[in-house]
Amino acid sequence: MTEGKIVLAGGSGFLGCVLGEWLDERDYEIVVLSRRETSIPYGRCVLWDGEHCGKWALALENASALVNLAGRSVNCRYRSRNRREMMNSRVLSTRVLGQAVAGCATPPAVWLNFSTATIYKHTYGAAHGEDGEIAATPEAKDEFSVHIARAWEDEFANASCPHTRKAVLRAAMVLDIVSGTVYEILRRLAALGLGGTMGNGKQFLSWIHADDFCRSVQWLIDNPSAAGNYNIAAPTPITNADAMKLFRNTVGMSFGLPAANWMLEVGALLMRTETELIIKSRRVVPTRLLDEGFTFEYPTLESAIASLELRRVKSSSRNDRLEVRPPQPSHN
Ligand SMILES: NC(=O)c1ccc[n+]([C@@H]2O[C@H](COP(=O)([O-])OP(=O)(O)OC[C@H]3O[C@@H](n4cnc5c(N)ncnc54)[C@H](OP(=O)(O)O)[C@@H]3O)[C@@H](O)[C@H]2O)c1
Repeated sequence: MTEGKIVLAGGSGFLGCVLGEWLDERDYEIVVLSRRETSIPYGRCVLWDGEHCGKWALALENASALVNLAGRSVNCRYRSRNRREMMNSRVLSTRVLGQAVAGCATPPAVWLNFSTATIYKHTYGAAHGEDGEIAATPEAKDEFSVHIARAWEDEFANASCPHTRKAVLRAAMVLDIVSGTVYEILRRLAALGLGGTMGNGKQFLSWIHADDFCRSVQWLIDNPSAAGNYNIAAPTPITNADAMKLFRNTVGMSFGLPAANWMLEVGALLMRTETELIIKSRRVVPTRLLDEGFTFEYPTLESAIASLELRRVKSSSRNDRLEVRPPQPSHN
């Protein structure tokens, strides 16, 4: 007997894996909608194309929740083809899920659709709750990202599914010790002596520990009155200068080369990404989650780093144990 079926559209990536493992450990049945046949350790995979209705829609019948994480990574150069894919993968997947939910005999009880904390206006001033201003700023080079986020949310708002509760997840950067993700990148830069202030260092970074991310998603699934827009972010955004200092302390590096804006531009070009991901000031707080009774296990970046560093030690000692395991006898 499981706790219920949860469908993760686009659930084969970083957040799908983090959330899928979390829910699987809590006895949910996980179905991942993916564009490729892939082995999913935390559930089963159902093929879809993210654009057209098909037999995959049957997977939504009777689901406790549908969570849509589908979207081409934004960590790329914003060339026209990438822009098209970033937009279509979010808007078309949301549209076709809306059609599939509308066609269900027993539709999912709740549909959580991802969006991003980047939707809010670049600010060094007061933090944005869910009613914060939504706008792009030339200084932050975020016109396209805000445009995508609006189109993504509009598509979700237009989906007509009266029997399914709907909520938007305006997620901040999720921190976990997964290679290639933001926590590991910042930590590595600090370890290499490159963890100085980036740009003017005053820009805010909004973030959330992976466990609080999973707990907040589960809370939104379980809470029958949770609907509308939610900021999925820890309550204490931190400036880039302060965050980099914490990373330097964590790896025991006394100095960090600062990176001026022009250096960030060159670095972004070499790393095939965009400076917006670093220079935009995202000061976003989870007003609704806090008002409605959700509590964070890791409310400050210090507490999140302490937990992730412990996780890193545990995971490397597990790997060490595997590495030093004596050779198994051969059966040949
Ligand atoms: N990571 C964060 O900290 C963060 C923060 C805020 C918002 N978000 C948003 O949360 C969502 C999930 O993030 P993530 O970090 O897990 O991303 P990810 O690792 O890139 O995974 C996204 C998934 O989307 C699917 N996908 C990619 N292109 C697609 C397309 N053209 N059509 C349909 N599906 C497509 C892929 O699944 P298949 O290849 O299996 O089909 C992929 O596994 C994204 O929309 C992202 O923008 C993430």
